[in-house]
Amino acid sequence: MPDTITITDDRTGKTITVPIQGGVFPAAAVRELDPALFIYDPAYMQTAACKSSITYLDGDAGILRYRGYPIEQLAEKSTYLEVAYLLLNGELPTAEQLVKWKHDVTHHTFIHENMRKRFVDGFHYDAHPMGMLVSSIAALGTFYDDAKDITSKESRDKQILRLIAKSPTLAAMCYRFSVGQPFVYPDNNLSFPANFLNMMWKVGDYEIDPRLERAMDVLFILHADHEQNCGTTAMRVVGSSHADPYTSAAAAASALYGPLHGGANEAVVRMLADIGSIENVPAFIEEVKSGSGSRLMGFGHRVYKNFDPRATIIKKTAYDVFEVTGKNPLLDIALKLEETALSDPYFVDRKLYPNVDFYSGLIYQALGFPVAMFTVLFAIPRTVGWLAHWQELLGDKDQKISRPRQWYTGPEPRNYLALGDR
Ligand code: CMC
Repeated sequence: MPDTITITDDRTGKTITVPIQGGVFPAAAVRELDPALFIYDPAYMQTAACKSSITYLDGDAGILRYRGYPIEQLAEKSTYLEVAYLLLNGELPTAEQLVKWKHDVTHHTFIHENMRKRFVDGFHYDAHPMGMLVSSIAALGTFYDDAKDITSKESRDKQILRLIAKSPTLAAMCYRFSVGQPFVYPDNNLSFPANFLNMMWKVGDYEIDPRLERAMDVLFILHADHEQNCGTTAMRVVGSSHADPYTSAAAAASALYGPLHGGANEAVVRMLADIGSIENVPAFIEEVKSGSGSRLMGFGHRVYKNFDPRATIIKKTAYDVFEVTGKNPLLDIALKLEETALSDPYFVDRKLYPNVDFYSGLIYQALGFPVAMFTVLFAIPRTVGWLAHWQELLGDKDQKISRPRQWYTGPEPRNYLALGDR
C-alpha cells in the first residue's frame, strides 16, 4: 500500500498525490491544488501545526513520553530538574551536567525587589494568585534588557534559566501576598521542590517531610510538558511573532488559567465540595448527563481516549501524600464519582476517563494549598514545557509567524447608511 494520499479537486479535475509521513501530509498540497482553498479545522483538531521532537503522546494507548522516556519511569526515578534538562536539551544530563544545571537554576531563583515591593504589592488584596502570576511573568521580562534578543542562543539560554528558576519564587510570592504574609526568600541550599514548599509555608521553624517533597517533585514532572495543548500553542503563536519569552510565557499562562485547561483541578475540588457527600453522586451524574448542570470536571480529554497515564500516577501519589497528611475527606466522593462514571454508558461511549486534574487537586489540598493556587502549581513546571517548545519553534526553519485563515460568513458588500436612514 503506497504511503501517499491523492486529492482531486472536482471543480477543476486537478489531482495531486503527496506523501504521508508519520501519519501527516503537508497542507501545502492543498495550496498546490488551489491557493484560495483552505481547510476548515476549528480548534485545530485535525491539524499538526509543527514538527516536534519533545513529547510523544498516544491518546488511544494512554502513552506519554518525554524525549522517548516513558512518563512512568521518569515519575518513579527522575527529578523535575533532571526532566527540565531533558526537555530542553533532548538528553538526560550526565552527572557533571546535572551539577552545573542545578547550580545555575539555584542561582537564579531571586527576583528583583521591585517586583515585590512595587508590582505585586499593587494588586488588590483579594487578587487571584493565577491572575497575579500571569501578569508577574510578563512584568518580569521588563527587568531584563536582553530578553528581546531572541536571536542569540546565549540570551535565550539565560532567559530560559531565569524563567524556570524564578517561576516558583513568583508563585510563592503571589500566594504570600494573597494571605498577607511576609515574603520568604529562596533558600539555595534546598532542592527545587523543597525550596518552593519552604517559600510557601515557612513561618518560624519549618521542616519539610521528604515524602511531601518527593510528591511535589513528581507532580512537577507529570505537568512539565504535554505537547501541543492550549497553553503551549499560545506560547508558540505568540513566540512566532518574535515576542520575548516572558511575554510569550504570560500568554501561555493565560491560556492555562481557563477552567477547560489548567483551571480544571480547581474546578474539580469545588465540584467535589458542592456534591458534598457520596449519597449525592448519582444525582450529580444524572445532572451532568442531562446537560443541565456542569460537566464532570477532571474527566475527558481531547487526546486521551483510553486513560490518562498521568492520572494513574497521580492517584498513587495521592495515597502517598495522604499517609503523611491524613486522607482528604473529598477522596471518597471522588472515588465514588469515578466508579459511577466508569460504569455508565454515557461516559464509556464517549471515552471519558479521569484526566490529570481529577486527583491532583485533592493532593494539593492535602498539602495545604488553597484551591486558588492549583493552576499556579500547574504553571510552575509547565514553564519548562513552554520554553522547550519556544526554543524548538525558533530553531525550526519551517516556522513563520502564526497566521491562520478564516471562512468568512459575514454580510456581502453593502453601502454605508447615514445615521438617520438606519
Ligand atoms: N463531562 C460530561 N460530558 C463530557 C465531558 C465531561 N467532563 N467531557 C466531554 N463530554 C461530552 C461532551 O458533552 C460531548 O458529548 P456529545 O457528543 O453528546 O455532545 C462529548 O463528550 C465530546 O466532548 P467534547 O467537548 O467535544 O470534547 P473535547 O475534546 O472538545 O473536550 C475537554 C475535551 C477536556 C475540554 C472536555 O472533556 C472537558 O470539558 N472536560 C472537563 C474539563 C477538564 O477536566 N479539563 C481538563 C483537561 S486535562 C488538563 C489539561 O490538559 O489541560
